[in-house]
Amino acid sequence: MTEWPDPPRLVVVDDDTELRPVFEVPSETLYALIDRNRDYLGEFLDFATPEYALEHAVRYADQSRENWGRKGEQAYAIVHRRRPAGTIGMHRYGSRNRAVEIGYWLDAGLQGSGIMTRSVAKLTEVAFEQLGVNQVNISADVANGRSRAVAERVGFRFDGVTRQWLLNAKGKLADMARYSLLRTEWEENRT
Ligand SMILES: CC(C)(COP(=O)(O)OP(=O)(O)OC[C@H]1O[C@@H](n2cnc3c(N)ncnc32)[C@H](O)[C@@H]1OP(=O)(O)O)[C@@H](O)C(=O)NCCC(=O)NCCS
Repeated sequence: MTEWPDPPRLVVVDDDTELRPVFEVPSETLYALIDRNRDYLGEFLDFATPEYALEHAVRYADQSRENWGRKGEQAYAIVHRRRPAGTIGMHRYGSRNRAVEIGYWLDAGLQGSGIMTRSVAKLTEVAFEQLGVNQVNISADVANGRSRAVAERVGFRFDGVTRQWLLNAKGKLADMARYSLLRTEWEENRT
């Protein structure tokens, strides 16, 4: 099977939180959120450089619209209590192995209440149950304890470390911890 179903445009995480395509959120709003969180995001994500500007957020939204459901770059805004709170996206590795990678970030002020754990759990469910994937991956800087804890809470298994793989916005190379969850494990966990 090489065809991929269209990703859902609305993913309801819980009563307070839903996922919507990033291009449905005004780029100005998303940019303001990134701008406010720039230093905190830049520690672990490469895009949040001092040069990141509104035009980059606009381009990102345009590319996300263009690639939606086609090249597999499904980028969602996390909308919490009707306000954008971060993003979560899915990137396909390829058609034949049916593996995807999930990446995410959250407004610093909204950390600590499980928004991301629940969003990752829901998107993982979408990947297995609606998109028919075989494997979901998450990667994080080995020093990114909060991100690794999200993967572990959702039930991902630690696969190992790829050395000096990640580059952050400050140009620092870091070792990357890799996690995965297989369809068989997902099915076992559900029963
Ligand atoms: C990584 C990141 C998303 C984690 O955010 P987070 O707030 O720790 O994650 P969650 O939203 O799942 O919240 C988990 C916390 O809420 C608590 N929590 C409360 N209710 C919860 C619930 N119902 N379910 C799960 N956790 C819950 C957990 O115990 C945990 O608390 P702790 O921080 O004291 O351990 C965030 O730190 C971030 O965006 N960092 C910068 C960018 C980044 O690193 N992105 C990832 C790159 S790989």
